[in-house]
Amino acid sequence: MKIAPSILSADFANLARDVAVVEKAGVQYLHIDIMDGHFVSNLTFGANVVQALRSHSDLVFDCHMMVDDPGKYVADFAQAGADIMGIHAEATPHLHAVLTLIKNAGMKAEVVINPATPVSAIEEVLPMVDQVLVMTVDPGFGGQSFLPETLHKVEQLAAAKQKNQWHYDIEVDGGLNDQTVRQAVKAGANVIVAGSYIFGAADPAERIAALTKASEE
Ligand code: DX5
Ligand code: ZN
Repeated sequence: MKIAPSILSADFANLARDVAVVEKAGVQYLHIDIMDGHFVSNLTFGANVVQALRSHSDLVFDCHMMVDDPGKYVADFAQAGADIMGIHAEATPHLHAVLTLIKNAGMKAEVVINPATPVSAIEEVLPMVDQVLVMTVDPGFGGQSFLPETLHKVEQLAAAKQKNQWHYDIEVDGGLNDQTVRQAVKAGANVIVAGSYIFGAADPAERIAALTKASEE
């Protein structure tokens, strides 16, 4: 299991410091939420921030693109040092083409589905992706409540992966804490995003340890 702290809940005025804290605590991924104010109503940051963080961290940069027309950003994110680029199925009619662009740019390709989007919407691209992200909240903001009704999709993806010997990781994002992580891992998730649970605490390292422990129980 891998933990991916979401810097959406970090201190934006001290990003490098907060990233160093979670890196020292032993996480593998850094989840970077890119929002354009169109696909979701919130705005965050772009490839320039990814590039600025790159020289401060060796973590796997897991970029979650909550943007319209994600293909536009592929070259910039590759150049900035993103490792994984996740695009929403709802954000482009050209899923296969954009995932191919991501792979050709040397990054791992991820497809993301909102709570209202079924697994059937992405089944044609499952053989080609490195990671699938099942949103466990509606995207846009940190600190929302986990939606347990999304977990049947994690189970479906885990079963399809095993049946077809596909290789994707299964990520969950939204409302994860030491309680909800158990359900997500049981359903088959192996990459856990957590924002407010980790960065909202006085001691993020303690929260990372608690998440790890809960997921192993
Ligand atoms: C929400 C983002 C999440 C967010 C999760 O749109 O995709 O990555 O940071 O925050 P928490 O863990 O607080 O629900
Ligand atoms: Zn996210």
